[in-house]
Amino acid sequence: MTATPGIELADDLFLQYASLVREKSGLEVTPARRSDLERAVADLTARSALASPDKLYQLLVGQAGDPVLLDDLITRLTVGETHFFRNRPQFEALQNVILPELIEKRRAVLRLRLWSAGCASGEEAYSLAILLRLLLPDLARWNILILATDINRESLEKAVLGRYRPWSFREIPPDLKAAFFVSHGDRFEVAPKIRRMVTFRYLNLAEDSYPSLLTDTVGMDLIVCRNVLIYFNEEVNRLVARRFHETLAEAGWLVVGHAEPSQDIFRQFAVRNFPGTVVYQKSAVVEKYPAFSAPILPDVPAPAPAPLPPPARRPVKAAPAPEKPPARHFLKHLPAPVPAEIQTALRLFAVGQSAEAIQQLKALAEADPANLWPPYELARLYANLMELQAAETWIDSLLRREPLLAAAHYLRGLILQEAGRLEASLQSFRACIYADHEFVLGHFALAGVMARQNQPQRALKAFENVERLLVGRDPAEILPDGDLVTVGHLLEMTAAQKELLAG
Ligand SMILES: C[S@@+](CC[C@H](N)C(=O)[O-])C[C@H]1O[C@@H](n2cnc3c(N)ncnc32)[C@H](O)[C@@H]1O
Repeated sequence: MTATPGIELADDLFLQYASLVREKSGLEVTPARRSDLERAVADLTARSALASPDKLYQLLVGQAGDPVLLDDLITRLTVGETHFFRNRPQFEALQNVILPELIEKRRAVLRLRLWSAGCASGEEAYSLAILLRLLLPDLARWNILILATDINRESLEKAVLGRYRPWSFREIPPDLKAAFFVSHGDRFEVAPKIRRMVTFRYLNLAEDSYPSLLTDTVGMDLIVCRNVLIYFNEEVNRLVARRFHETLAEAGWLVVGHAEPSQDIFRQFAVRNFPGTVVYQKSAVVEKYPAFSAPILPDVPAPAPAPLPPPARRPVKAAPAPEKPPARHFLKHLPAPVPAEIQTALRLFAVGQSAEAIQQLKALAEADPANLWPPYELARLYANLMELQAAETWIDSLLRREPLLAAAHYLRGLILQEAGRLEASLQSFRACIYADHEFVLGHFALAGVMARQNQPQRALKAFENVERLLVGRDPAEILPDGDLVTVGHLLEMTAAQKELLAG
């Protein structure tokens, strides 16, 4: 591909582009990076056959703003430098203290959740996977999530491919390279047993998409986010630090890079010192709701669900016999709006008072068993706390009453997915779509499970359904039941997942 010659943007247009990039991705385009931005703008203007950079800007911010094109611009401004076992002192702290402590803590539940946020081409996430292989002789019994996310889709494609040049191995001990990589021409390929431990996804850290069940970012035990925050400004960093805090389980760990912002940004965390490095930990207060302490259930078929009643609008052929109860009209949606007392409980949860929120919702459930909101929100909050058994119990109690409630089937699917019960989660997502064909997040979740189950064609079809349902909708529209995810954001995630499947 020949490079497009750069252009010089007028100062005001440069500032407009810089502020658009900041708002969308958190990235600061400093004066030193002005020429990078100018090159990227020139390239995208030419590629989109537009008359001028001004026109490109109008297209990016216009009503029908193109999220994928904007993403392309941002991607060109990211720095993807990374390598295996980058920063020896941090990996020693992980190997010698942090991961062993987490393993001890989670041995009763056999579940670990790690997140490499800003993973670039994947070396960091695969390094974590290698450490877990070394530390867990009984790895097969564990339900492990190593989530690796980035905003750069090309990097994610490389990560999924898992083939690296020798330069990526400059800090890895030779015995580990020999044990976990296979030579492939002039590259080295990650061994399949390591590759399948990592889940790569698109996620923009500047967006309000975490913590959320939708993005698999709840109850994390460890977040590694290194050499990402240095490209953001202080305001974005404070926001990201706060979201990471909410995303972590109690006493969960946050590892940031050496050159990251001042400790003040992370003041809600405790500081733990290790030789040659500092690591943050979510304050280790005693958990009021101890984590669900039974082992994760095996992937057994879900108990046969009660047969779904026919859709409520089906014409009734004959008048019901007088002694029969009148035909029941099953609800497909929770009654809007969210009642004020439920909102009060949710606000408590949002500021970290999960025990109080749950107590209030339980009291509401008891006082008014006909109200559908308390069991729904209890299931959602328990799921966010990764107390999956309690979450499942509440959502099942709701579905017994209202078997056509699309949002409840969707939530049940997410809960089962978190528990590693993929087959059963698939059934729930299907039930969600059966109840409401236009429940776009149901299609998205269905696609995600199919992709994980190695059914790329079916997954692609389900992703296409997502796109079809979102055509013409305002990118800023917040989707119902989606933890504040917008139409634009879902389109970005869908495009990125489709590319990963195709690549
Ligand atoms: C220098 S790499 C760091 C890779 C790895 N964490 C390491 O330290 O070796 C920075 C990564 O952050 C990603 N990034 C930048 N802005 C981001 C955002 N808003 N959301 C998610 N990732 C972002 C970039 O695409 C890039 O891959």
